[in-house]
Amino acid sequence: MKKFKNSEITPEKIYYKRRSFVKSIGYSLSAMTLCSVPLIKANASNSNNLTSYKDITTYNNYYEFGTSKSDPYINAQNFKTKPWNITIEGEVDKPINISMEEISNEFTSEERILRLRCVEGWSMIIPWMGFSLSQLLSKVNFTSKAKFVEFESVYDPEQMKGQRYPVLNWPYKEGLRLDEAMHPLTTVVTGLYNKKLPNQNGAPLRIFIPWKYGFKSAKAIVKIKLVEKMPTSSWMWASPREYGFYSNVNPNVDHPRWSQATERIIGNNIFSPRVKTLMFNGYGEEVAHLYNGMDLKKFF
Ligand code: MTE
Repeated sequence: MKKFKNSEITPEKIYYKRRSFVKSIGYSLSAMTLCSVPLIKANASNSNNLTSYKDITTYNNYYEFGTSKSDPYINAQNFKTKPWNITIEGEVDKPINISMEEISNEFTSEERILRLRCVEGWSMIIPWMGFSLSQLLSKVNFTSKAKFVEFESVYDPEQMKGQRYPVLNWPYKEGLRLDEAMHPLTTVVTGLYNKKLPNQNGAPLRIFIPWKYGFKSAKAIVKIKLVEKMPTSSWMWASPREYGFYSNVNPNVDHPRWSQATERIIGNNIFSPRVKTLMFNGYGEEVAHLYNGMDLKKFF
């Protein structure tokens, strides 16, 4: 496992590079190798567009509030996100419990335009507000046993109707290897489009890992646990054959039930062609080194 060195890359560098990538070439380049000229034009102009606020906030996956894309928008409106506390515990010298107010006072959220690629085969370009998870994790000292990070979403079946049914093993859990968690692109999201994070997108706080399928990005988190063993995420638990621990966006590794080679950009009209999915969702330059020497077909 390659340890991430903080000096290797700065959040600013990534952010500006990523921004220009999305804005200038983005998917037009990959589309160019795939499609005929008129379609490239349609794609190129669309790829320069951020997904609309409406699409980002009404087309969601958040099974605690229902399994249809429109359910979270409808059912999460009255979800109470105040007061809210997060614990950071496990393999740390001293666990902490930190409130949302303390987090907002202590960490400055910046705009981070990052692509979300859902395992279902669609994508969005989202202007998130947030900061690197590594900043939040710097509030604790890890023990030498800390190898992975487990995220836990809130468990509140009173407010979250979906948790009354065994759709997943609640609470929703996800995990990262420690070096993935410490990578500056791994983001604690506090908002989008310069506004506070809507409930349906994971308020008050969610994680976002742009080079992994969207389900790795747990919403409404209440616990971050440093652990020694690879955690079993809710999706691995539900279907280990379909959802691996790494879940890096990878056009060469199909989901057992469908291809991951292409994707539909949300907001494009229905006649727009699907575009080619990029390795690591286009963030290979920043993250490929984390997986040097690993067989990504085996560790999917
Ligand atoms: N987090 C929780 N707690 N519950 C969920 O059902 N769905 C995941 C992820 N985080 C989910 C979750 C999936 S499958 C995706 S694609 C993204 O959230 C969707 O994020 P968005 O609705 O903000 O686009």
